[in-house]
Amino acid sequence: MIPSTSSLTAALQTVAIGAIMYFWMRRRRSKPNEKAKPLHVDYGEAISFPFPMKVIGSLPEWIRIPLMVKGSKPSPPRDSIDILGQDSEVDPYEKKLILPGKIWRVRYSYLMSPEFKKAMEGLFGNVNAAAITNAPDHLKETLEKDIAAAEKYDTMSEKERAEQGGDSKQDMFIAKINIDGDDNALLIYNPVRLHPQMIDWINTLGEVKFIVSGSSSHTNFLPDAAKKFPNAKIICAVAADLKCQGVGMRPADFLYDVVRDEEVPTRYSGRGTYEDALEALQGQARLFHIRGDVCTQALFVLVHKHLFEVDLLYVNSDEKLRETEFESGTSIQHSSHRIFHYSLITKKAHPIGYLLPKYRCLMMDPTSLLASKLMIDAPNADGSSCVIMAESLRSALKTLSQHGVCDQVLSSHTHEMSRECFCQKLNETWGWLDGTSLLE
Ligand SMILES: [Fe+2]
Repeated sequence: MIPSTSSLTAALQTVAIGAIMYFWMRRRRSKPNEKAKPLHVDYGEAISFPFPMKVIGSLPEWIRIPLMVKGSKPSPPRDSIDILGQDSEVDPYEKKLILPGKIWRVRYSYLMSPEFKKAMEGLFGNVNAAAITNAPDHLKETLEKDIAAAEKYDTMSEKERAEQGGDSKQDMFIAKINIDGDDNALLIYNPVRLHPQMIDWINTLGEVKFIVSGSSSHTNFLPDAAKKFPNAKIICAVAADLKCQGVGMRPADFLYDVVRDEEVPTRYSGRGTYEDALEALQGQARLFHIRGDVCTQALFVLVHKHLFEVDLLYVNSDEKLRETEFESGTSIQHSSHRIFHYSLITKKAHPIGYLLPKYRCLMMDPTSLLASKLMIDAPNADGSSCVIMAESLRSALKTLSQHGVCDQVLSSHTHEMSRECFCQKLNETWGWLDGTSLLE
């Protein structure tokens, strides 16, 4: 069979594009800045990046960043209500009153998206073997059962998985504050998916005036929250704002990693800064932006002596809860959590951060392709992001440790804990940043 002219043209185009990419990548070597300083600590084995990531990493910044923004657009995973309908008996929301009339926690369950799961496996491979190796002896059998349960779960239909409630969860915190004399104003932190019944419940508490993202990596539900509460002011990082505008979210009102003293890029002019956000909160809540944390641009919110946190702590700090819930829980969420924990978090799996998934270290490494070329915010090539982050954490912990400032911490990936416990765990988790204790 003789190929048509159009197919020959397409083939020639493919060869030409392939040749250009080949020589481009050879020249660029798809490597981060070759003068970049390696991370000062060893965070484990090197990651082999898939070819498309290497190609994107080799592109100049003006093409690469828009591609990265497009590729990391929020994509909300599905939950039991999406799949089983509003009348389903499986409630994705678990509400908890933290401080009467003032603070609430909402734990939201959902199904991890197949794309996210695939991306994690693409980077870290099959983590099952590592999870069993790293688990303590008394949990090895449990991990074997977890892996069998996770494999069975993967073969289930979406409906069956939804009937189990899903395999992932995220916490949202709500605080009632007084703005312009209205003591029914609400601030929601780290928003989750807001189905009508959740909106109805929130409306019984007050009027949402602020939506705070808390982490530039938690953006899947932010555009939906912005849409559901059109009058609320949005406080988020620039990276979160870029990603969310990619799916049509209105521009955030306050960008907390753009400070007044620095040169504000034209595209952000007219938006509020960190200091403007503090002013808008009228002293009802304090913000602590953890500078240098290029992976999540973590932002603490302190309100009613309670601190809201996301993406800096990853393990349960309460030993009793750890035993009764984490170790003996039998749901698919417990199984997934244990596999994640023992493959990516344990000290054995990751020699420098006892409580930290290794990708959080990787994201601070200027010589890593992922951190330096495939994220919207990259670590400084001279390694100074670690020092900046350590100083920022140290300063926040110092303020929080003053008498009467903070009673309790609500951590999105763990449970409530005392301020003392939080400071100690944060130090154990991030003390490696500049090799000096974060506690003064
Ligand atoms: Fe997270």
